Amino acid sequence: HQQQKENLFLTGKHVLVSAGPTQEKIDPVRYFTNRSSGKMGFALAEVAANAGASVTLVAGPSQVQIQHAQITKIDVTTAEEMYESMLEHFGASDIIIKAAAVADYRPAVTYEQKMKKQAGPLQIHMERTRDILQALGEQKAQQFLVGFAAETERPIENGRKKLERKNLDAIVINDISADGAGFAGDTNAVTYLNKRGKTETLGLNTKQEIARQILQLIHEDVEAQRS
Ligand code: CTP
Ligand code: CA
Repeated sequence: HQQQKENLFLTGKHVLVSAGPTQEKIDPVRYFTNRSSGKMGFALAEVAANAGASVTLVAGPSQVQIQHAQITKIDVTTAEEMYESMLEHFGASDIIIKAAAVADYRPAVTYEQKMKKQAGPLQIHMERTRDILQALGEQKAQQFLVGFAAETERPIENGRKKLERKNLDAIVINDISADGAGFAGDTNAVTYLNKRGKTETLGLNTKQEIARQILQLIHEDVEAQRS
């Protein structure tokens, strides 16, 4: 539908969004992953594009479909592929939103042939993936960098620590134990916290509406940083 001019608040901005889970292969039939539908990140990409931004969406495996003239979608599978893609596009971006649920660990060995089951328990040795957001925080120049935090306890305290540790401008804190919030559903409830300590509670709403509110808050912070 027709966009009204005053809603095009991200015109001229390059927005980089990562969404969805990553998949870390164990063997040809098995993988290790995180719970994430990709809906929140895809909604952010769509709302940003509708607000006039040119959007690059780096997406892990997701069922969500997206078609938009101003969205370039790059499909990735692993945390390492997401890392490469995000670093490649970071320099040309004004606003970066890391909504993806990146696997913190991957199998240290990937088997070429299907593992056959054996008697007794199985141990899979896991190694750490790289922290993409941390790397972006270290390289940050004029960009506005937004992370997500998925927490099941002390969400604000844990989210604040992540904001500081990763040198973010803002963080969207998801209390995944709250009703209607989190993964598969079409709704979410979050807290937006910026580096100056301002917190905004965005109550239960559709992921589209939460995305709109998040981008409005980011826009306000970007404008405040410029002046
Ligand atoms: N993240 C990332 N690369 C990773 C792990 C996480 O870029 N290897 C990003 C996520 O995309 C998110 C933010 O870091 O924007 C926070 O993710 P979260 O899982 O909540 O925090 P972690 O730092 O991984 O800490 P933990 O899982 O131990 O709480
Ligand atoms: Ca994690």
